[in-house]
Order: sequence, then structure tokens, then C-alpha cells
Amino acid sequence: MFLLLLLLQLFLTGQSTAALFPPNNATTHSAALHACDQLQSSLGSSIVQTTGKEYQAGATNAWNLQNCQYQPTCIVFPRTSAHVQTAMKAIYSTGSHYAVQAGSHSAMKGWNTVQDGVLILFTYMKNVSYDPKTDSITLQPGIRWQEAVTALEPFGVAPVGGKDVGTGLLLGGGISFLSPSQGYAADNFKALDVVLVNGEMVTATASNKYSDLFRALKGGGNRFGIYNSSATEALLKATARYTREVNDPNAVLLVALNNIGGEFFSFAGMFYRGSELPAHIFGHFLSIPAVPCSPLNSTVCSPPPPLGPMSYLDVMATQGSENQRGSVQHFGASALDGADEDAYLAAFKHWSNFTATFKDEFALAGMAFTPIPESQVQAGRAKGGNVIAPPRGGWAAVQFGEEMKAGVKDVPSRVQKGLDLLFEQVPPSPRLPLYLGESDPQQKVFQSYGDYELLKQIYTKYDPTRFNMAHTQGPGGL
Ligand SMILES: Cc1cc2nc3c(=O)[nH]c(=O)nc-3n(C[C@H](O)[C@H](O)[C@H](O)COP(=O)(O)OP(=O)(O)OC[C@H]3O[C@@H](n4cnc5c(N)ncnc54)[C@H](O)[C@@H]3O)c2cc1C
Ligand SMILES: *[C@@H]1O[C@H](CO)[C@@H](O)[C@H](O)[C@H]1NC(C)=O
Ligand SMILES: *[C@@H]1O[C@H](CO)[C@@H](O)[C@H](O)[C@H]1NC(C)=O
Ligand SMILES: *[C@@H]1O[C@H](CO)[C@@H](O)[C@H](O)[C@H]1NC(C)=O
Ligand SMILES: *[C@@H]1O[C@H](CO)[C@@H](O)[C@H](O)[C@H]1NC(C)=O
Ligand SMILES: *[C@@H]1O[C@H](CO)[C@@H](O)[C@H](O)[C@H]1NC(C)=O
Repeated sequence: MFLLLLLLQLFLTGQSTAALFPPNNATTHSAALHACDQLQSSLGSSIVQTTGKEYQAGATNAWNLQNCQYQPTCIVFPRTSAHVQTAMKAIYSTGSHYAVQAGSHSAMKGWNTVQDGVLILFTYMKNVSYDPKTDSITLQPGIRWQEAVTALEPFGVAPVGGKDVGTGLLLGGGISFLSPSQGYAADNFKALDVVLVNGEMVTATASNKYSDLFRALKGGGNRFGIYNSSATEALLKATARYTREVNDPNAVLLVALNNIGGEFFSFAGMFYRGSELPAHIFGHFLSIPAVPCSPLNSTVCSPPPPLGPMSYLDVMATQGSENQRGSVQHFGASALDGADEDAYLAAFKHWSNFTATFKDEFALAGMAFTPIPESQVQAGRAKGGNVIAPPRGGWAAVQFGEEMKAGVKDVPSRVQKGLDLLFEQVPPSPRLPLYLGESDPQQKVFQSYGDYELLKQIYTKYDPTRFNMAHTQGPGGL
């Protein structure tokens, strides 16, 4: 059986949007130099690096090419949480800017790296273990989900995590193939070791004195086929219908529409924990004529795996590896009520206009739907609730993702304007939360949460000087 209790060493850091983030100046530059000097003498020059091969590899490790163009004043490679505490103490006392990087998959410019500041990189904190007595998994923040699932498979358990990205997923809530039965990935936290901005470490659980922080960290981010338009319409309608009607915790659906170099294709991943794909759940999808690969370019998709039993590792492998690097990446989010089928069709129409307008800019542009069933919302509430606090299930998290062509170093401003228009044209349905891990840095994600006011209060309590908001990039609104 899947087992789902997580103990994660997490480090609460700060937020603000790119636009609000104070620019670097002589003061912040010299603060970073002070922090790095201090840290090199206390932790040594292999844990705290300012140049060299490992430093360079660390500075250019990010998935989004834009986040490979920063030169942190130093990179801290902690081995233990005590190292992280030492680093945060120096960062706090010198007033240095800083950033934290786990699996490196943030699409948001500047969120997992820093110029003229200290970067904390979890390359050497990748332990994962399972304790059958407490039925819980302990993860360190540097592990990636593929590695965690592989290491835990012999025990017959799996973390409620993602595909091949890192533990940063948990900070936005995390949408897993196991979510319909277990809630958001973060709903499964048992205990979190949290280093506060001043370097103090606390362990937060649902019932101890840090229970407010525990709740805030469930969604609070680092603050703390073939073109056939009637087939596409059938796919969008089937997606809305599934989202509205299916409330079976054993069923998982992921629908993605992609435009690769002007060529359109779509993908529906259907998984069921049972012996077959029940027709009453997936029948509408299975009746849409599918072509396994593009007749124009057979490399853009692979034939679907044969229908049959798969291990959780096999399921993850259907999604491919997320390891490719070297392009500028961008995300944006919406959230659509399954009852509003027209909104699904309209979203596709606007996205099609967007991708047609900018097709020459993109190596790939996609729009994906992840249904959030009522069972997922209930599973989260039964586990103590999170700050995302969706009012109900029956809606889909919508992700827009764009990969720029090779050689492009930034999201061009005309494309960003097109994206801003797209977000206006495809707003979230009333009261539905945006998903942090798949949003544009300027979207008001925290403001869309059910427990936004509570999140603000908890932030103010744990970071009264607002150090994190002022010194590290991340979501705004706190
Ligand atoms: C190819 C791809 C597939 C994806 N699939 C899914 C999916 O299936 N489900 C899903 O829910 N999401 C998915 N996402 C979104 C994913 O949740 C986010 O990209 C997430 O931010 C990745 O976390 P990371 O650790 O890899 O990235 P990082 O860039 O290392 O971290 C992300 C953010 O969290 C901060 N952070 C990380 N660790 C810590 C820490 N210990 N303390 C404080 N701050 C920290 C970083 O500063 C950064 O702001 C996917 C993304 C990509 C690119
Ligand atoms: C430099 O930036 C810091 C905050 O990042 C700010 O407090 C300070 O006033 C700035 N100094 C100058 C000289 O602009
Ligand atoms: C992580 O694993 C290594 C190797 O097994 C071990 O030496 C180390 O103590 C572990 N660290 C923690 C924090 O458990
Ligand atoms: C396109 O999709 C529709 C709706 O599913 C289907 O009826 C039709 O046969 C498809 N056309 C082609 C050419 O495949
Ligand atoms: C097919 O697509 C791949 C990936 O986008 C691309 O590298 C390749 O050049 C394409 N081949 C043709 C014949 O268009
Ligand atoms: C299509 O997208 C372009 C680029 O964002 C925009 O200028 C135009 O107004 C859009 N058209 C419609 C009908 O939305």
C-alpha cells in the first residue's frame, strides 16, 4: 500500500514579486560579501563556495535558463540542518539577500537563485527513509521524487509527491497522482523541521505550538494525437465532465494540449487503481479517436503504453524525464469549475489565439488540466487542512507552460503582454485557488487562497521584521 506520511526538513524563506523586490546596490552587495566571509570561516570552503567547478555547476543548475544567469556571491552546500541554521543566521544578521534551491524546477525567474546574495543548495541533503513503526517517510529537501519513489519501492510505500521535480513542489501544496485519494501532497505532512529567517530551528506538527506554521506551510510556498477540432472539443468537454462528475479517489486524469513548433497535439493520461479503466469514468475519453503519434513528426509523441497493470514507478515513467535544461521556461495558472463547460472551450480558444500569435517564439507551449476532485479536498480537510483551503472539489487546476526557443535569454515583453491578456481572458472561476507551483510570478496566488487572511497573520508572527519578503524572491501578497 502507499504510505503517505512525510517528515521533511524545510526551510522557511521570504517572498515578494520580481517587481517589488529591492534591487541590488552597494549595501546589499557588501552584506552578501560579509555573510559569505563569515560562512566560509565558520563552515569551511567546501561547504561555502565562491568559485570553482562545483560553484559553477550549482549556479547553472536551474531548469529555467533565466535562473542560470545569476552569480550568487557564494553558494552554501549544507550537509546538515545545523549548516542551514548557521547560513540563515549569517544571512539575517548581515541583511544579505538570499535564495533556496531544492529540485531546481521553479519556472519563476529569480525564485531559486540570487545575484549578490547567498544561495543555499541542497545537493548533499538527499536522504530518504521509511519507518514502518510510525508508517512515515522522512525526506531531506534535496531529493527528487523519482529518486524517492525508487528508494522506497522495496518497502511497498510511496510518497505523495510529484514526477521528476523536487521537494519545492510541497511548498505550493503539490498535486500528485495520489492526490485524489490522499489530498494535496502537503496534506500528508507529519512534522516539518523549519529554519526560521533568524536561524532558529523549530519542528512544526499539527498539534504542537507551531501548528499554525505547520498549516501555513501547506501551500505557503517559500514564504515559509492530431489536430481534429471536433476531437479537441470532445476532449475538452470530456475533461469538464470528468472534473464535474468523477469523485472516485482511485481515478487520476491528466489532460495536456500542446503546440510544438506550430503542430498541435493532445494527450490524456488515465490511471485507475483497480483492474481496469472503468467505462463510466473514462468512457468519454476512450471513445475519442486517438492517433498515437503525429503523422507529421513521429518524435513529438510516443505510442501510449499498453493498457495494463503498472507499478507506481511505471506510472511516473509515462511522464518522461524532466531533466532537460537550457531553455527559458515560463508558467501561468488558472482554475476552472467543471460545471462551467463553456469556460473550458473558451480557455482553449484564447490559448489557441495566444499560441498562434507567438508560435515562432516557442519551442513548446502547453495547456494542462489536473482535476481536483471533492475526494482530494476532503482528504486534505481530514488531515487537518491547508492554507490553500479550496471551497470544494469538482474543478481543474489549469497550467499554461511555455518553453522559449533555444538561444532566447528572457521572456520577450510582447509575449509577456500576450500572457497577461491570456490570464485576463481565462480567469479562475469564482473562489477557486491558483496553484503556486504552476503560476506566473505576478499572479495573485496567495490572495486566491481560502485562508489568505490566516496565512498573512502566521507570516507576520514568524517573520515580524518581514526579512523574508525583503530579501528573497517568491510569491507576493504577504
Ligand atoms: C516538468 C515539470 C513537471 C511538474 N509536475 C508537477 C506535478 O506533477 N505536480 C505538481 O504539483 N507540480 C508539478 N510541477 C510544478 C512544481 O511543483 C514546481 O515547479 C516546484 O516549484 C518544483 O520544486 P523544485 O524543488 O523542483 O524546484 P526549486 O526551484 O528548487 O524550488 C521551488 C521553489 O521553492 C523554494 N524552495 C525549495 N525548497 C525550499 C526549502 N526547503 N525551503 C524554502 N524554500 C524552498 C525555492 O526557493 C523556489 O522558490 C512541475 C514542474 C515542472 C517544471
Ligand atoms: C539598498 O537596498 C536595501 C534593501 O535591499 C535598502 O534598504 C537600502 O536603502 C538600499 N540602499 C541604497 C543606497 O539604495
Ligand atoms: C544521511 O545518510 C547518510 C548516509 O547513510 C548518513 O551518514 C547521515 O547521517 C544521514 N543524515 C541524516 C540527517 O539522517
Ligand atoms: C474527429 O473527432 C470527432 C469527434 O470525436 C470524430 O467523430 C471524427 O471522426 C474525427 N475525425 C477524424 C478525421 O478523425
Ligand atoms: C520533430 O520534432 C523534433 C522535436 O521537436 C525536432 O527536433 C525534429 O527536428 C522534428 N523533425 C522534423 C522532421 O520536423
Ligand atoms: C490574440 O492574441 C493577440 C496577442 O496577445 C492579441 O493582440 C489579440 O487581441 C488576441 N485576439 C483575441 C481575439 O483575443
